[in-house]
Amino acid sequence: MREGYEGTGSGAITPDGCAVELYTRLPVGDEPEVIAGVAPAGARILELGCGVGRMTHPLIERGFTVTAVDESAEMLARVRGARTVHASIEELDLDETFDVVLLASFLVHTGDPEVRRGMLATCLRHLADDGFVLIQREGEDYHTKVPRERVDPRGFTIRIASTEPVGDGVNSVVAEYFFPDGEWTQTFRSRPMTKEQFEEALAEAGLTVDRYLTEDRIWVKAVPVG
Ligand SMILES: C[S@@+](CC[C@H](N)C(=O)[O-])C[C@H]1O[C@@H](n2cnc3c(N)ncnc32)[C@H](O)[C@@H]1O
Repeated sequence: MREGYEGTGSGAITPDGCAVELYTRLPVGDEPEVIAGVAPAGARILELGCGVGRMTHPLIERGFTVTAVDESAEMLARVRGARTVHASIEELDLDETFDVVLLASFLVHTGDPEVRRGMLATCLRHLADDGFVLIQREGEDYHTKVPRERVDPRGFTIRIASTEPVGDGVNSVVAEYFFPDGEWTQTFRSRPMTKEQFEEALAEAGLTVDRYLTEDRIWVKAVPVG
């Protein structure tokens, strides 16, 4: 396990505390639409932290070619129709470039600045000429509006139960997932970043915001500086 991360509930748990079975149950949201709204038709996408393929599969259905990366073999075993790569994002070096590199699921907020730098360097290293990075940030109230919960009409509830400072600007967050026949939790480290702090982190990695794709500034299109 990564330090500060853990998960409970049935089935395999990834080093960052995600439950594989939980992710096979969670439906995809608007992520594929946001990505398809900006990615060129038929683009080659490098998806970092793909999990079981919740976003991968709808992207393939939309005609994209996806290379899906995850450090959990149990997650990757559920991915269909994509090339899979078992690796940590921060160490990935495929010696290959892509039209779009996708760093979703708030991974950019990882508590360890070295891991964040490594992830963003991986994004840059794998970009084709004219390529861009798509990043999914946390919403601005994710650490202030706590506890909060969403009851999904499909029959499950997601609750962010707590977020507690653990030093160095990092919080320990507990997420709970309730289904009629099972419960899972994930505890993870997250570094809240203002828009300015996020843009500084990008600049440090040689990236800059091209534009915020959604009004809440959660989805960002980033390009190499210069
Ligand atoms: C919260 S899940 C989201 C999965 C997928 N993006 C989705 O939205 O369904 C995060 C995934 O990223 C993977 N992951 C987290 N940190 C990673 C890292 N540093 N390197 C490789 N995989 C990582 C985990 O194993 C897990 O499958």
